[in-house]
Amino acid sequence: MEIINNPTQDEIKKAAKALKDGHLVAFPTETVYGLGADATNEKAVSRIYSVKGRPTDHPLIVHISSINQLDKWAIDIPDYAIKLAQEFWPGPMTLILPRKGIAKDFITGGQANVGLRIPDQPIALALIRKFEELGGKGIAAPSANKFGAVSPTSADDVREDIGAHLGINDLILDGGRCDVGLESTIIDCTRSSPYILRPGFVTSKDVFKTSNSNSLNSNENYRQKYSGNFVSHYSPKASVVIDSIPAIGDGFLALASIDTPAGSIRLSSPKNSIEFAKVLYKAFRVADKLKIKRVNVILPTGSQLIDAIEDRVRKASTLSK
Ligand code: TXA
Ligand code: MG
Repeated sequence: MEIINNPTQDEIKKAAKALKDGHLVAFPTETVYGLGADATNEKAVSRIYSVKGRPTDHPLIVHISSINQLDKWAIDIPDYAIKLAQEFWPGPMTLILPRKGIAKDFITGGQANVGLRIPDQPIALALIRKFEELGGKGIAAPSANKFGAVSPTSADDVREDIGAHLGINDLILDGGRCDVGLESTIIDCTRSSPYILRPGFVTSKDVFKTSNSNSLNSNENYRQKYSGNFVSHYSPKASVVIDSIPAIGDGFLALASIDTPAGSIRLSSPKNSIEFAKVLYKAFRVADKLKIKRVNVILPTGSQLIDAIEDRVRKASTLSK
């Protein structure tokens, strides 16, 4: 496995060629790092599952470079989905749409729908474009972490999590820390109105405004039916508690405006909710490295990413009970 720092266009081309040859390429997106494979190559895709230790019925998101590529993967695309795509792509949003034949069961986990996203990150976009120039149709990429762990927001996180499982021809493209730091908003577009399966940077308000339809909020039963065991994501080894009174030696994560309680170990001091999202997974990772047993999170106030932050922290806390 080779790590390429700030890859040049030639190095990105080399990575696209590696994908075409059936190898894996981890790459930065604006949300989190993805572990990419040729989405039409069953053998390559099966390696994603073994490297991550992920159950094979979990569907993968296919990354494409432009709205023109939508028709390759999806049929019966509702008008509201086109509006969402035009407004938020490239960007931190995944649309679930009825699949075309090219989206095989090994991508969709046997479901009749496929998840599609155009990421807003120059290395990711260049990689997908060069891959398409070589005849590729799309890059399947889940977050590049071990199954059940928090998503990686830097190339170092990727190397630490899965580096040992990558092969000699696999690559990690290092594009620095991810801008958003939390996974994309996932929107089910297979019904008469959009339905948010996973909150993210694109909010239900955004979806409502753009699609002119009533976007429904997520509901556990529906989620589990469609996305496997969603709840098993986003958890550090430390147990996570929310807004509670910290004990001596607890990790502590809160906005910079909140003082560190005596005896707590400050993990980060983000200035606002956007910075909070960006450092959240890093803080969980640092806590695990320091072998901290419990992390106390004070949920941030603010106007952006609040739902997504609460969603991930609540999942981490539910799991660690
Ligand atoms: O921000 C992101 O979305 C990142 C970057 C790399 O693009 N990707 C990501 O992938 O978070 P992953 O696999 O770690 O999480 C995607 C979630 C999974 O829980 C999966 O079950 C769900 O999306 N998903 C994918 N395709 C789906 C489909 N066809 N129907 C329902 N859920 C789907
Ligand atoms: Mg993931």
